Amino acid sequence: MEQHIPVLMEEVLEGLAVRPDGTYWDGTFGGGGHSGRVLAQLGPDGRLHGSDRDDVAEARAGAFASDSRFSFHRGAIEDVIDLIPNGLAGFLWDLGTSMMQLKEADRGFSFKEDGPLDMRMDRRQETTAADLVNNLPEGELADLIYMYGEERLSRRIARQIVAARQEHPIETTGALAELCRRAYPKRYHRIDPATRTFQALRIAINNELDMLRHQLPRAAAKLAEGGRAVIISFHSLEDRIVKHTFRELSETGEFAVLTKKPRVAAEEESRLNPASRSAKLRVLERCIPGSEPRSKGRRRREAYRKKGAQP
Ligand SMILES: C[S@@+](CC[C@H](N)C(=O)[O-])C[C@H]1O[C@@H](n2cnc3c(N)ncnc32)[C@H](O)[C@@H]1O
Repeated sequence: MEQHIPVLMEEVLEGLAVRPDGTYWDGTFGGGGHSGRVLAQLGPDGRLHGSDRDDVAEARAGAFASDSRFSFHRGAIEDVIDLIPNGLAGFLWDLGTSMMQLKEADRGFSFKEDGPLDMRMDRRQETTAADLVNNLPEGELADLIYMYGEERLSRRIARQIVAARQEHPIETTGALAELCRRAYPKRYHRIDPATRTFQALRIAINNELDMLRHQLPRAAAKLAEGGRAVIISFHSLEDRIVKHTFRELSETGEFAVLTKKPRVAAEEESRLNPASRSAKLRVLERCIPGSEPRSKGRRRREAYRKKGAQP
């Protein structure tokens, strides 16, 4: 099976600034690449909670089972958040899909691989992408593709889908991708015409944006003083929510945004791992209200910013 190459590894470690005795949470464990490096920096009193809603990620977490500092919770962030203790020294959410999900045709995430139209990160969930594509009324389907895919041709694509499903159900990624391509005028496109529709369905099936909007402030409230939240997003809808939520939290005076602009992959990483090209990383730190100007936290934040976070 495909291995996931973790993105922005050094930037994640710098963002978390791991304290050897701290308690951390990796809410998107995936292949465990980031978790492994965090564990390596923890001392005997440090703790790492890993979680993911994917069964393949759960299986990968088995590799750390003998490490008593590590525990794994299978479930979506919104379902496991209450199991994560308060007073976190940091947490990481590396959102999006793992290579294990994307490259396995039978997971149905990719228009480049032909497989069942599935797209569930948690295969215990009932609704698949095929259910939406075959059952949503045309108008709702078009709105979904427009909102979550920012697809200007959403109405044309929805029309193609509805016409095709009257003949027979659309059950494969290949069939859906073909309909998207048919909806596009020739030579109108720079990216594959299926890209945005697939993104929209994946976001809808996995409730990605609502999760972020509602759970990010709750997770931030679990941070101890000086604790860090590191979030990596892969498309503008997600990044916008992270940016606005961080800004709102910083306006309370309890948090400081360490990355005025998101950190992105360096040229070398972009070349070696194309998946890193759309990654944007933002960091938030919890501070003490009132004591901000001379606090040690302030010095830590300045040091982080100078290191290349492009304030
Ligand atoms: C980009 S991968 C993470 C890769 C990981 N950082 C590594 O180093 O291997 C994203 C993972 O997050 C999981 N995921 C995405 N959204 C989630 C959510 N709301 N709740 C739980 N897991 C989620 C996916 O199942 C996937 O395994």
